[in-house]
Amino acid sequence: MYIGLDLGTSGLKGIVIDDAQTICAEATAPLQVTRPKAGWSEQAPQDWLEAAEAVLSSLAAQADLSAVRAIGLSAHMHGATLLDDQDRVVRPCILWNDTRAAAEADVMDRNPIFRKLTGNIVFPGFTAPKLAWVRRWEPEVFAKVAKVLLPKDYLRLWLSAAHVAEMSDAAGTSWLDVGARAWSDELLEATGLQRAHMPDLVEGSEPSGMLRRDLAARWGMRADVVIAGGGGDNAASAIGVGVVRSGEAFVSLGTSGVLFAASDAYQPDPASAVHSFCHAVPQTWHQMGVILAASDALSWFGRVLGAAPEDMTSGLGPLQAPSATLFLPYLGGERTPHNDAVIRASFLNLDHSTDHVAMTRAVMEGVTYAVRDSFDALTSTGTKIERLLAVGGGSKSDYWVQAIATILGLPIELPVSGDFGGAFGAARLAMMAAGAKVSDVAYAPKIARVIDPAPGLTDEFMAGLSAYRAAYQALKGLGGSA
Ligand code: XUL
Repeated sequence: MYIGLDLGTSGLKGIVIDDAQTICAEATAPLQVTRPKAGWSEQAPQDWLEAAEAVLSSLAAQADLSAVRAIGLSAHMHGATLLDDQDRVVRPCILWNDTRAAAEADVMDRNPIFRKLTGNIVFPGFTAPKLAWVRRWEPEVFAKVAKVLLPKDYLRLWLSAAHVAEMSDAAGTSWLDVGARAWSDELLEATGLQRAHMPDLVEGSEPSGMLRRDLAARWGMRADVVIAGGGGDNAASAIGVGVVRSGEAFVSLGTSGVLFAASDAYQPDPASAVHSFCHAVPQTWHQMGVILAASDALSWFGRVLGAAPEDMTSGLGPLQAPSATLFLPYLGGERTPHNDAVIRASFLNLDHSTDHVAMTRAVMEGVTYAVRDSFDALTSTGTKIERLLAVGGGSKSDYWVQAIATILGLPIELPVSGDFGGAFGAARLAMMAAGAKVSDVAYAPKIARVIDPAPGLTDEFMAGLSAYRAAYQALKGLGGSA
């Protein structure tokens, strides 16, 4: 048996799988995000540990965990978890969708060594500019920092008492030489840090340490449970849906939206605002376009309406031509393709007849256009997408998936129901860390249905895309603050 834990932005999920990858138990615990100021987004690392304890206790109540051989970890990426020399957390974690460090990111991004060695823009949501922000605005906190961990690596520290990171998540810090898969002293020095501030590095499919004996005893596990390197949530999800070779891709409609393509070569193109990161298995990389608010945009509009997103989308019927109402989903700025921390979301073209249904469709269409922007960014680098799956909460809406298929002009495969998120990928990485081969474990899921583009609606969607792009050009620079 193997356990996969995925620390998501809105909750922590855990699953247990057997050798045939059948899910034997699953549990979740909710998590909150605090936004103390505009553009800020934080979580208390202690909440992650409490959520993980609740999830592991629930898994132990559902299944006998004495057969567990390894545990894999996945989590939201880029978060700065800052520890003192006693491994105590010195401030709340600054999350992936926090844009407070826009000015610091801009300064770093102008230093050519960052793009050269990391292959990426220094985005405000990445880890290094957050440290530059803390150094500038909270110098007393910065002075205490002895280790910087990513969120899943803080879970690992609790589980195994080891300071270890793995390549896929480390690639999103702006401190990793992504081609060489190694920390860069030059980049660390440019942020006022040294190698000693960083955890050790392993591949996601390698062991990183052993489960603490007291925790093993608490949940009825053996004394020799391996903790796998694991992966950032997107890389782990990719392992979960078998996206490990060039040409394979998935679109994820989670809190963030991601268009992810695997690659057997490192082919960065920072100017396109595409993320070029290491994959969670050796000698493999990936590219992705990242939309900061995908399902999050629908959740936000649901809160405004006082409605649940599932209820808002369930009655939409077959795909229609896009509404005249436009929505730009930039609630917290945008990464791909704009790298714009200042832009904020907008509804446009409201009139007397606009109702909540038209606005709901506009929100989904706005994210649909954003996926097309990421697609164009990815393909401009030469990346080929031959096979595309949809995952994440938003993929439960056929309406949304067909809108995306139509704007991309590509069929989209929907896996059979089951868990193919980061937790499943993390459990697969646990299998690999316990000795299984990548090719034996990371195969594609069974496909339940394929959703084809709606041929009669392509022109309307392309016209909507042009209007959406023109709206951004007209609105950028107006209002908002990072
Ligand atoms: C990827 C990114 C998000 C988070 C949260 O670069 O910031 O996808 O990992 O899921």
